[in-house]
This record gives sequence, structure tokens and C-alpha cells, in this order.
Amino acid sequence: MPLHNDRLLRALRREPVDRTPVWLMRQAGRYLPEYRATRARAGSFLAMAKTPELACEVTLQPLARFPLDAAILFSDILTIPDAMGLGLYFVEGEGPKFEHPLRTADDIARLGVPDMESELRYVMDAVRLIRRELRDADGIGRVPLIGFSGSPWTLACYMVEGGGSDNFPTIKAMALNDPAALHRLLSVNTDAVIAYLAAQRAAGAQVLQVFDTWGGALSPAMYREFSLPYLQRIARELPRGEGDAHAPLILFGKGNAPYLEDLAASGCEGLGVDWTVTLEEAARRTGGQVALQGNLDPAMLYGAPEAIATQVRLTLDSYAAGNGGSRAGHVFNLGHGLSPDMDPQHVAALVAAVHEHSARPYRPA
Ligand code: CP3
Repeated sequence: MPLHNDRLLRALRREPVDRTPVWLMRQAGRYLPEYRATRARAGSFLAMAKTPELACEVTLQPLARFPLDAAILFSDILTIPDAMGLGLYFVEGEGPKFEHPLRTADDIARLGVPDMESELRYVMDAVRLIRRELRDADGIGRVPLIGFSGSPWTLACYMVEGGGSDNFPTIKAMALNDPAALHRLLSVNTDAVIAYLAAQRAAGAQVLQVFDTWGGALSPAMYREFSLPYLQRIARELPRGEGDAHAPLILFGKGNAPYLEDLAASGCEGLGVDWTVTLEEAARRTGGQVALQGNLDPAMLYGAPEAIATQVRLTLDSYAAGNGGSRAGHVFNLGHGLSPDMDPQHVAALVAAVHEHSARPYRPA
């Protein structure tokens, strides 16, 4: 599986690279006028995500603008519960919703793992098409393609609440009042996530990321009961392939800073962190067991290009300071996704600053 640009794969193996690879969560999205144009043509976000040609088109849009080191499949984490029969829809300005949220142990007992090549075929078709379109004239891929899934806990939050939530009242009540039902849901979700990521890899995804967006909403005791064990099972059981076909796994978690040691020992290859911990501390605490991904606060993109470049340099050097002076094993990213009101020119400044500064060796201040 040769690639013209394999910096991301090398960094995830903690091998030295000429420049730190960079990609951005939500790099395809509403901050890009060309995305808004495709979305208007498609009629809705879901129509776009469920039509492989359109999903492919928007996946490639940020790569046409910025010299990013990876593509990420354009899709959503809520495709799995949708395929389980919960009925995903979007209300303008309110985010995702389900027609049939899970409210009782009976609702949960009826759930099964969807068939990946029938109910989620549109996702696998998009992966296959994107891989084809990423090939240059010589048949070799430009950059790797990242596939992804939500974590069992984060999916459960949407499935039980019926949409986004500030305080997660329904699922936290379930954690207290019927923990066995919640564990059964998390267990089915884990089987589904493993099957989903394995199918994306079989279709051509070269790196796999799990988004545990809401793990940080749990108390430490509840995180250790309802999120961590299921992430650990994914890291243990997900088949990654051998040699050239090996697809590394990145576990990203919002608010996962208290658990870096446990996550690094899970068997994942990469750990994605938000901006509430310095990369210097994260690198020291994980001691070279995994590559680290992150972690610029996305709000830094509201600053001027010069200020963004300074923040990028500080982020890169923080990693090196905690990693014995070496930039190896770092994947640059934001600590969470881009927002619709961000300026594409500021994103360009960020990407340029990563490539420029990381090409130079680390010099302690
Ligand atoms: O990173 C990428 O470029 C890949 C695409 C991607 C999307 N969603 C596209 C999207 C990825 C990786 C996701 C994951 C996702 N979806 C997460 C976890 C990621 C994270 O940020 O931690 C979550 C929690 C969801 C659920 C979801 N889907 C939400 C909260 C929303 C936003 C709703 C809104 O109106 O703001 C979506 C829709 C969605 N997914 C959009 C995009 C670009 C916006 C849809 C639009 O065009 O209106």
C-alpha cells in the first residue's frame, strides 16, 4: 500500500518524519463555501452523507485548498444507530435527532449489529470511491484515508437522549437505575463499532479513529465503568491487518486527560487529546507507548494568522519538550473540530505554520 505522502502512517508508528503531519477534525464542513454549495445541491447533510459521489466530493474539498497530510471520510458517527433502526434526522439549528430513542431495557434488548455491506453499504461505497479518487495518475495514493466511528459511550448518549444534550439526564439516570441495560447497550455498540471499523478498513480506510466526544462528561468512576472498558475492548479486538495493510487505531477523547495512562496501555497506536492538557505532559505520562494527536484549541483560529502561527509553534514544541526533544510520534490536529464560522485563510495559516516550524529541529527555549 505505497503512498506519495505517508507522514501520518510514519508518525503513528513513531518514526521520524521530515515534517509533522497535520489534518483537522471536521476539515470538510460548513466553513468552506464549496462545502455549502455541495450541501445546497444535495438538499441536506444526510443526502450528502448517504450519496457516495457527494461524500467523496466533500472529502476531497479541503485537500484541494490546503496541503493536508490525510483525508477523512465524510460521514457521521450516527450512521450506526441510524442503521440499527433509530431513524436519524437533522433539525436546522438543533443538530441530530432520533425518531425512536432508546428508553427501556426492552428497546435495548431488541438491538442488533447492522450488516455493514447492506445497511451501511453507502459508507463502504464512499470509502472505496474516495480511495480511487485519491490515486494519482501513477496509481499511487496521495495521502492516507482515515475512517472513523463514534465510541460506544458517545453513541449511547445520542441513542438514549434522542439527540444532543447538555447534561445527559436520561442516560445518567439509566447508569444509576438500570446499569445492566446500559452495559448491554454499550456491549452491542462495541460489537457494531468493531464491525464498522473492520468493514471500513476492508473497503480501503488506512487509519481508523474512534471519537469519544462525551467521555469527559462522566465522573472518573463512571468513565471507568461506562466508557474506558469498551474503548479497551475495541483496541484489543479490532483487526488492523499486517505489514503494509496495517491500519493504526487512534482513540480521540474530549476530556480524556485524566485517563491518558490507561488509554495509552490499551493497545491503540495513537491517542487524540484536547487542549486541556499540554502535549509535554501528555508525552511524559504516556512515555512513548503511543503516538499523540492534537491539540491546539480550535478557538485559536479566531486569532490573526501571525498569532495562530505562534500558537502552532508552541504546540509543536510542547510535544517535543515532553518527548526527549524529538518531534517523532506527533500528529498535529486541533483538540476538537473546526466550526462553521472559522476563516479558511486562518486554516491555511495553521497548516503552513505546522509544516514550516516542524521541518526545523526542536531547540529548547
Ligand atoms: O472530520 C471530518 O471532516 C469528517 C466528518 C465528520 C462529521 N461528523 C461531519 C458532519 C465527523 C468525523 C463527524 C463526527 C461526529 N458527528 C461527532 C464526533 C466528532 C466530534 O466532534 O467529537 C459527533 C458528536 C457527531 C454528531 C453530529 N453530527 C453533530 C453534533 C452534528 C452537528 C449538527 C449541527 O447542525 O451543527 C452533526 C452533523 C455534521 N456532521 C456536520 C458535519 C460537517 C454539519 C452538517 C451540516 O452540514 O449541516
